[in-house]
Amino acid sequence: MAREHPGGIVDLSVGTPVDSVPSVVQSALAACTDTPGYPATYGTAALRAAAASWMSRRLGVVADPSAVLPAIGAKELVAWLPTLLGLGAGDVVGFPALAYPTYQVGALLAGATPMVLDATVAAGPSRVAMLWVNSPANPTGRVLPPDHLRKMVDWARERGTVLVSDECYIEFGWDDEKPPFSLLHPSICGSSHSGLLAVHSLSKRSNLAGYRAGFVTGDPGLVAQLLEVRKHAGMIVPAPVQAAMTAAFDDDAHVVEQRGRYLARRAVLRPALEAAGFTIEHSEAGLYLWATRDEDCWTTVEWLAKRGILVAPGSFYGAAGARHVRVGLTASDERVATAADRLTS
Ligand SMILES: Cc1ncc(COP(=O)(O)O)c(C=O)c1O
Repeated sequence: MAREHPGGIVDLSVGTPVDSVPSVVQSALAACTDTPGYPATYGTAALRAAAASWMSRRLGVVADPSAVLPAIGAKELVAWLPTLLGLGAGDVVGFPALAYPTYQVGALLAGATPMVLDATVAAGPSRVAMLWVNSPANPTGRVLPPDHLRKMVDWARERGTVLVSDECYIEFGWDDEKPPFSLLHPSICGSSHSGLLAVHSLSKRSNLAGYRAGFVTGDPGLVAQLLEVRKHAGMIVPAPVQAAMTAAFDDDAHVVEQRGRYLARRAVLRPALEAAGFTIEHSEAGLYLWATRDEDCWTTVEWLAKRGILVAPGSFYGAAGARHVRVGLTASDERVATAADRLTS
Protein backbone atom coordinates (compact mmCIF):
# COMPACT_ATOMS: atom_id res chain seq x y z
CA MET A 1 0.00 0.00 0.00
CA ALA A 2 2.81 2.43 0.97
CA ARG A 3 4.48 1.73 -2.39
CA GLU A 4 1.43 3.02 -4.28
CA HIS A 5 1.58 6.52 -2.82
CA PRO A 6 1.94 9.09 -5.67
CA GLY A 7 4.95 10.72 -3.99
CA GLY A 8 6.66 7.35 -3.59
CA ILE A 9 7.24 5.27 -0.53
CA VAL A 10 9.12 6.54 2.53
CA ASP A 11 10.67 3.39 3.90
CA LEU A 12 11.47 3.81 7.59
CA SER A 13 11.11 0.10 8.33
CA VAL A 14 14.73 -1.02 8.23
CA GLY A 15 17.85 0.33 9.91
CA THR A 16 20.06 0.27 6.85
CA PRO A 17 22.32 3.34 6.48
CA VAL A 18 21.72 5.52 3.40
CA ASP A 19 24.54 8.05 3.69
CA SER A 20 27.92 7.57 2.01
CA VAL A 21 30.77 5.51 3.32
CA PRO A 22 33.24 8.10 4.72
CA SER A 23 35.94 8.89 2.15
CA VAL A 24 38.73 8.11 4.63
CA VAL A 25 37.34 4.58 4.86
CA GLN A 26 36.80 4.17 1.11
CA SER A 27 40.42 5.22 0.51
CA ALA A 28 41.74 2.72 3.07
CA LEU A 29 39.77 -0.07 1.36
CA ALA A 30 40.96 0.98 -2.10
CA ALA A 31 44.57 1.00 -0.91
CA CYS A 32 44.34 -2.60 0.22
CA THR A 33 43.24 -4.58 -2.83
CA ASP A 34 46.44 -6.56 -3.47
CA THR A 35 46.06 -9.08 -0.67
CA PRO A 36 46.85 -12.56 -2.02
CA GLY A 37 47.45 -14.20 1.36
CA TYR A 38 44.96 -15.36 3.98
CA PRO A 39 44.03 -12.65 6.48
CA ALA A 40 44.43 -13.38 10.20
CA THR A 41 41.21 -14.36 11.97
CA TYR A 42 42.60 -12.45 14.94
CA GLY A 43 42.85 -9.30 12.78
CA THR A 44 45.88 -7.12 12.09
CA ALA A 45 47.69 -5.58 15.05
CA ALA A 46 46.75 -2.17 13.60
CA LEU A 47 43.03 -3.03 13.63
CA ARG A 48 43.10 -4.38 17.17
CA ALA A 49 45.00 -1.31 18.37
CA ALA A 50 42.59 1.06 16.56
CA ALA A 51 39.52 -0.63 18.05
CA ALA A 52 41.01 -0.63 21.56
CA SER A 53 42.04 3.01 21.19
CA TRP A 54 38.49 3.95 20.09
CA MET A 55 37.06 2.21 23.14
CA SER A 56 39.40 4.08 25.41
CA ARG A 57 38.90 7.47 23.68
CA ARG A 58 35.15 7.38 23.25
CA LEU A 59 33.89 4.92 25.86
CA GLY A 60 36.43 5.25 28.67
CA VAL A 61 37.01 1.48 28.48
CA VAL A 62 40.46 0.05 29.13
CA ALA A 63 40.50 -2.49 26.33
CA ASP A 64 43.45 -4.76 25.75
CA PRO A 65 44.16 -4.89 21.98
CA SER A 66 45.04 -8.57 22.35
CA ALA A 67 41.43 -9.21 23.46
CA VAL A 68 39.88 -7.59 20.36
CA LEU A 69 38.48 -10.08 17.85
CA PRO A 70 37.07 -8.92 14.49
CA ALA A 71 33.71 -10.25 13.25
CA ILE A 72 32.07 -10.32 9.82
CA GLY A 73 29.54 -7.78 11.12
CA ALA A 74 27.93 -8.02 14.55
CA LYS A 75 25.03 -10.09 13.24
CA GLU A 76 27.30 -13.00 12.39
CA LEU A 77 28.73 -12.93 15.91
CA VAL A 78 25.33 -12.57 17.58
CA ALA A 79 23.99 -15.52 15.60
CA TRP A 80 26.93 -17.83 16.32
CA LEU A 81 28.10 -16.76 19.77
CA PRO A 82 26.19 -19.39 21.78
CA THR A 83 27.55 -22.07 19.42
CA LEU A 84 31.11 -20.69 19.60
CA LEU A 85 30.89 -20.73 23.40
CA GLY A 86 29.98 -24.40 23.23
CA LEU A 87 26.41 -23.95 24.49
CA GLY A 88 23.77 -26.48 23.54
CA ALA A 89 20.92 -28.58 24.82
CA GLY A 90 19.89 -27.63 28.35
CA ASP A 91 21.65 -24.23 28.30
CA VAL A 92 19.49 -21.14 28.68
CA VAL A 93 20.30 -18.06 26.57
CA GLY A 94 18.46 -14.99 27.87
CA PHE A 95 17.59 -11.78 26.05
CA PRO A 96 15.29 -8.78 26.54
CA ALA A 97 11.52 -9.00 25.98
CA LEU A 98 11.85 -6.50 23.14
CA ALA A 99 14.92 -7.43 21.19
CA TYR A 100 16.84 -7.83 17.96
CA PRO A 101 15.53 -11.22 16.72
CA THR A 102 19.01 -12.67 16.11
CA TYR A 103 19.54 -13.27 19.87
CA GLN A 104 16.82 -15.91 19.71
CA VAL A 105 18.09 -17.26 16.38
CA GLY A 106 21.57 -17.71 17.91
CA ALA A 107 20.21 -19.71 20.83
CA LEU A 108 18.24 -21.93 18.45
CA LEU A 109 21.25 -22.47 16.13
CA ALA A 110 23.20 -23.75 19.15
CA GLY A 111 20.36 -26.04 20.19
CA ALA A 112 20.11 -24.04 23.45
CA THR A 113 16.92 -22.74 25.07
CA PRO A 114 16.05 -19.11 24.21
CA MET A 115 14.35 -17.28 27.08
CA VAL A 116 13.08 -13.74 27.62
CA LEU A 117 14.80 -12.43 30.75
CA ASP A 118 14.27 -8.74 31.17
CA ALA A 119 14.84 -5.84 33.53
CA THR A 120 14.29 -7.77 36.72
CA VAL A 121 16.87 -10.43 35.93
CA ALA A 122 17.03 -11.29 39.62
CA ALA A 123 13.60 -12.88 39.29
CA GLY A 124 14.73 -15.18 36.47
CA PRO A 125 15.95 -18.76 36.65
CA SER A 126 19.22 -19.29 38.51
CA ARG A 127 20.97 -21.25 35.70
CA VAL A 128 21.43 -19.02 32.71
CA ALA A 129 24.47 -19.83 30.57
CA MET A 130 24.46 -16.58 28.64
CA LEU A 131 22.51 -13.31 28.85
CA TRP A 132 22.24 -10.53 26.26
CA VAL A 133 21.96 -6.89 27.20
CA ASN A 134 21.42 -4.26 24.53
CA SER A 135 21.86 -0.62 25.48
CA PRO A 136 21.08 1.55 23.54
CA ALA A 137 18.39 -0.90 22.53
CA ASN A 138 16.92 -1.94 19.24
CA PRO A 139 13.94 -1.42 18.83
CA THR A 140 13.15 0.93 21.75
CA GLY A 141 16.18 3.24 21.81
CA ARG A 142 16.26 2.73 25.57
CA VAL A 143 19.51 3.39 27.45
CA LEU A 144 19.98 1.39 30.64
CA PRO A 145 21.15 3.46 33.60
CA PRO A 146 24.60 2.62 35.04
CA ASP A 147 23.05 1.16 38.22
CA HIS A 148 21.02 -1.28 36.18
CA LEU A 149 24.11 -2.39 34.26
CA ARG A 150 26.04 -2.82 37.53
CA LYS A 151 23.27 -5.02 38.92
CA MET A 152 23.35 -7.16 35.81
CA VAL A 153 27.12 -7.61 36.12
CA ASP A 154 26.78 -8.65 39.79
CA TRP A 155 23.90 -10.97 38.97
CA ALA A 156 25.80 -12.63 36.13
CA ARG A 157 29.06 -13.00 38.04
CA GLU A 158 27.31 -14.55 41.06
CA ARG A 159 25.83 -17.20 38.79
CA GLY A 160 28.66 -17.79 36.34
CA THR A 161 26.49 -16.43 33.50
CA VAL A 162 28.33 -14.98 30.49
CA LEU A 163 26.91 -11.46 30.12
CA VAL A 164 27.15 -10.11 26.58
CA SER A 165 26.48 -6.49 25.76
CA ASP A 166 25.44 -5.56 22.23
CA GLU A 167 26.62 -1.96 21.89
CA CYS A 168 26.07 -1.39 18.17
CA TYR A 169 24.32 1.96 18.69
CA ILE A 170 26.59 3.35 21.38
CA GLU A 171 27.83 6.34 19.34
CA PHE A 172 24.32 7.70 18.90
CA GLY A 173 23.02 9.00 22.22
CA TRP A 174 20.80 12.03 21.66
CA ASP A 175 20.82 13.77 25.04
CA ASP A 176 24.57 13.98 25.24
CA GLU A 177 27.41 13.96 22.72
CA LYS A 178 29.19 11.59 25.11
CA PRO A 179 28.16 7.98 24.43
CA PRO A 180 26.08 6.05 26.99
CA PHE A 181 27.90 3.60 29.28
CA SER A 182 29.56 0.50 27.91
CA LEU A 183 29.22 -2.62 30.03
CA LEU A 184 33.02 -2.70 30.12
CA HIS A 185 33.39 0.76 31.67
CA PRO A 186 35.36 0.43 34.92
CA SER A 187 32.57 2.12 36.90
CA ILE A 188 30.20 -0.66 35.75
CA CYS A 189 32.32 -3.81 35.92
CA GLY A 190 35.41 -2.81 37.92
CA SER A 191 38.89 -3.34 36.54
CA SER A 192 38.22 -6.91 35.36
CA HIS A 193 36.25 -7.97 32.30
CA SER A 194 35.79 -11.48 33.62
CA GLY A 195 32.59 -13.15 32.41
CA LEU A 196 31.77 -10.19 30.17
CA LEU A 197 31.82 -9.52 26.43
CA ALA A 198 30.92 -6.42 24.41
CA VAL A 199 29.93 -6.57 20.74
CA HIS A 200 30.52 -3.59 18.46
CA SER A 201 29.67 -2.77 14.88
CA LEU A 202 30.77 -0.22 12.31
CA SER A 203 27.53 -0.58 10.33
CA LYS A 204 25.83 2.36 11.99
CA ARG A 205 28.79 4.33 13.37
CA SER A 206 30.56 4.54 10.01
CA ASN A 207 27.85 3.58 7.46
CA LEU A 208 29.69 0.30 6.86
CA ALA A 209 26.78 -2.14 6.84
CA GLY A 210 27.82 -3.16 3.31
CA TYR A 211 31.38 -4.01 4.37
CA ARG A 212 30.32 -6.36 7.24
CA ALA A 213 32.51 -5.07 10.03
CA GLY A 214 32.31 -5.59 13.77
CA PHE A 215 34.27 -6.94 16.70
CA VAL A 216 33.94 -8.49 20.12
CA THR A 217 36.07 -7.88 23.19
CA GLY A 218 36.03 -8.47 26.94
CA ASP A 219 37.05 -11.48 29.02
CA PRO A 220 40.42 -12.57 27.51
CA GLY A 221 39.71 -16.27 28.21
CA LEU A 222 36.37 -16.13 26.41
CA VAL A 223 37.87 -14.19 23.48
CA ALA A 224 40.64 -16.82 23.18
CA GLN A 225 37.97 -19.54 23.08
CA LEU A 226 36.09 -17.69 20.34
CA LEU A 227 39.28 -17.15 18.34
CA GLU A 228 40.13 -20.83 18.42
CA VAL A 229 36.79 -21.90 16.95
CA ARG A 230 36.53 -18.99 14.51
CA LYS A 231 39.95 -19.83 13.03
CA HIS A 232 38.84 -23.33 12.21
CA ALA A 233 35.36 -22.31 11.08
CA GLY A 234 36.67 -19.74 8.57
CA MET A 235 35.00 -16.78 10.28
CA ILE A 236 37.61 -14.39 8.89
CA VAL A 237 37.18 -10.70 8.06
CA PRO A 238 38.67 -10.00 4.58
CA ALA A 239 41.95 -8.05 4.64
CA PRO A 240 40.61 -4.98 2.73
CA VAL A 241 37.75 -4.73 5.22
CA GLN A 242 40.21 -4.97 8.10
CA ALA A 243 42.11 -2.03 6.60
CA ALA A 244 38.87 -0.08 6.19
CA MET A 245 37.86 -0.83 9.79
CA THR A 246 41.23 0.41 11.05
CA ALA A 247 40.76 3.73 9.23
CA ALA A 248 37.18 4.01 10.54
CA PHE A 249 38.19 3.49 14.18
CA ASP A 250 41.07 5.95 13.79
CA ASP A 251 38.69 8.72 12.72
CA ASP A 252 35.97 10.38 14.82
CA ALA A 253 35.20 13.33 12.53
CA HIS A 254 32.93 11.32 10.23
CA VAL A 255 30.95 10.07 13.24
CA VAL A 256 30.32 13.61 14.45
CA GLU A 257 29.05 14.45 10.96
CA GLN A 258 26.82 11.36 10.77
CA ARG A 259 25.45 11.97 14.25
CA GLY A 260 24.50 15.48 13.12
CA ARG A 261 22.55 14.03 10.17
CA TYR A 262 20.56 11.69 12.38
CA LEU A 263 19.95 14.41 14.97
CA ALA A 264 18.49 16.65 12.24
CA ARG A 265 16.25 13.84 10.91
CA ARG A 266 15.10 13.03 14.41
CA ALA A 267 14.29 16.71 15.02
CA VAL A 268 11.98 16.62 11.95
CA LEU A 269 10.38 13.22 12.46
CA ARG A 270 9.74 13.18 16.18
CA PRO A 271 7.57 16.35 16.38
CA ALA A 272 5.76 15.32 13.17
CA LEU A 273 4.81 11.97 14.71
CA GLU A 274 3.74 13.68 17.93
CA ALA A 275 1.65 16.18 15.98
CA ALA A 276 -0.04 13.20 14.29
CA GLY A 277 -1.03 11.80 17.68
CA PHE A 278 1.85 9.46 18.41
CA THR A 279 3.53 9.07 21.78
CA ILE A 280 7.28 8.44 21.55
CA GLU A 281 8.70 6.25 24.29
CA HIS A 282 12.38 5.79 25.21
CA SER A 283 14.21 6.61 21.94
CA GLU A 284 16.90 8.49 23.84
CA ALA A 285 19.57 6.86 21.68
CA GLY A 286 20.00 4.72 18.57
CA LEU A 287 18.47 4.98 15.15
CA TYR A 288 14.77 4.46 15.86
CA LEU A 289 11.74 6.18 17.33
CA TRP A 290 9.62 3.79 19.37
CA ALA A 291 6.14 5.12 18.73
CA THR A 292 2.58 4.24 19.69
CA ARG A 293 -0.96 5.45 19.04
CA ASP A 294 -2.14 3.08 21.74
CA GLU A 295 -3.65 0.66 19.25
CA ASP A 296 -2.61 -2.64 17.69
CA CYS A 297 0.69 -2.14 15.84
CA TRP A 298 -0.73 -3.46 12.55
CA THR A 299 -3.46 -0.79 12.66
CA THR A 300 -0.71 1.80 13.02
CA VAL A 301 1.34 0.19 10.21
CA GLU A 302 -1.73 0.42 7.96
CA TRP A 303 -2.50 4.01 8.98
CA LEU A 304 1.03 5.02 8.05
CA ALA A 305 1.07 2.92 4.87
CA LYS A 306 -1.96 4.88 3.61
CA ARG A 307 0.29 7.94 3.86
CA GLY A 308 3.06 6.14 1.96
CA ILE A 309 5.20 5.55 5.06
CA LEU A 310 6.51 2.10 5.87
CA VAL A 311 7.47 1.25 9.47
CA ALA A 312 8.20 -1.94 11.38
CA PRO A 313 5.48 -3.40 13.61
CA GLY A 314 6.65 -3.63 17.23
CA SER A 315 5.50 -7.24 17.46
CA PHE A 316 8.47 -8.23 15.23
CA TYR A 317 10.66 -7.65 18.31
CA GLY A 318 8.56 -9.48 20.88
CA ALA A 319 4.97 -9.71 22.11
CA ALA A 320 5.59 -6.69 24.36
CA GLY A 321 5.78 -4.55 21.21
CA ALA A 322 2.25 -5.31 20.04
CA ARG A 323 1.09 -1.70 20.44
CA HIS A 324 4.18 0.08 19.09
CA VAL A 325 5.92 0.65 15.80
CA ARG A 326 9.62 1.20 15.14
CA VAL A 327 10.34 4.22 12.96
CA GLY A 328 13.87 4.39 11.51
CA LEU A 329 15.94 7.55 11.12
CA THR A 330 17.86 5.84 8.32
CA ALA A 331 16.34 7.62 5.33
CA SER A 332 17.55 10.59 3.30
CA ASP A 333 16.74 14.13 4.48
CA GLU A 334 14.34 14.43 1.54
CA ARG A 335 12.43 11.25 2.45
CA VAL A 336 12.29 12.23 6.13
CA ALA A 337 10.94 15.68 5.21
CA THR A 338 8.36 14.01 2.94
CA ALA A 339 7.26 11.74 5.79
CA ALA A 340 6.90 14.76 8.09
CA ASP A 341 4.80 16.59 5.47
CA ARG A 342 2.52 13.60 5.06
CA LEU A 343 2.12 13.26 8.83
CA THR A 344 1.26 16.88 9.42
CA SER A 345 -0.89 17.77 6.38
C1 LIG B 1 20.89 -4.65 18.14
C2 LIG B 1 21.64 -5.02 16.92
N1 LIG B 1 22.68 -5.84 17.01
C3 LIG B 1 23.40 -6.21 15.94
C4 LIG B 1 23.08 -5.74 14.69
C5 LIG B 1 23.88 -6.21 13.50
O1 LIG B 1 24.81 -5.30 13.10
P1 LIG B 1 25.79 -5.62 11.89
O2 LIG B 1 25.35 -4.77 10.76
O3 LIG B 1 27.14 -5.23 12.40
O4 LIG B 1 25.71 -7.06 11.57
C6 LIG B 1 21.99 -4.88 14.53
C7 LIG B 1 21.63 -4.42 13.19
O5 LIG B 1 20.71 -3.74 12.94
C8 LIG B 1 21.25 -4.53 15.67
O6 LIG B 1 20.19 -3.72 15.58
